Amino acid sequence: MGVRIKTGRSVHFDPENVQLFINALLNLQKSRQGARVLDLGCGTGLWGLLASKILNPSILVMVDNDPCSVELARNNAASNEIVCETYCGDLYQAIPADIPPFDVVLCNPPQTGGPLRLKEERPDKYGGEDGADFFDLLARDSGGWIADGGCIIFSQHGLAHPKRVLDSFHSRGYSLRIIAEQERVFERDAVNAACEGLWEYQLKAEKEGRAELELSGERCFTSWQRVYLASRDGFASN
Ligand SMILES: C[S@@+](CC[C@H](N)C(=O)[O-])C[C@H]1O[C@@H](n2cnc3c(N)ncnc32)[C@H](O)[C@@H]1O
Repeated sequence: MGVRIKTGRSVHFDPENVQLFINALLNLQKSRQGARVLDLGCGTGLWGLLASKILNPSILVMVDNDPCSVELARNNAASNEIVCETYCGDLYQAIPADIPPFDVVLCNPPQTGGPLRLKEERPDKYGGEDGADFFDLLARDSGGWIADGGCIIFSQHGLAHPKRVLDSFHSRGYSLRIIAEQERVFERDAVNAACEGLWEYQLKAEKEGRAELELSGERCFTSWQRVYLASRDGFASN
């Protein structure tokens, strides 16, 4: 797709997201050309910069509450000659109030359920006890930020409480449709490297219905990752 991304030690980047995000954006390519695009929790700027190439947005705004991520996203945009605005702060609250609503809001939020120490060790991953907290905020606080006919495009894996995530959107009047999907394999060592004991925490969460994963051997489990399109206006224009 012709986007060069530099990553930084403390900044979230997952190479497994690249093709999934491209696939999701290709789904919107015809209907959302020239859209006003917001990337919430942008990290390196990966999703927003890909959107810039695929959707040719009329404005691209990227937000993160981590100053290193914002700086990296800004530098990545500059090195790809992509014009954007970047803001450091908490989700929608970081955006100046006079910016008009967006046609497409992209978000791959922190979404691993885990013990509180995961929050200290990997704030880019920690999504609350059941992984679903950020999805709830994304839907709850969206009022006024989504243009008529606009949509939220969010990425979710099975370690964020599936039912609570869907309920967060449905209860705010959104309809949901999956626009891209892939399988995800999580290795025990990698899971525990994020936070000791996270592997056992996830297996327990699965038993209690807060996560969807399947053991595929001693050392890894398989789950899914989906990109949803959330719309309050039906799917005719998507
Ligand atoms: C899972 S990472 C995704 C990064 C990037 N969008 C990607 O997919 O590569 C989540 C990002 O959300 C950011 N974040 C966490 N809490 C936030 C908040 N309250 N407001 C804005 N960004 C936040 C983190 O710093 C991190 O960069």
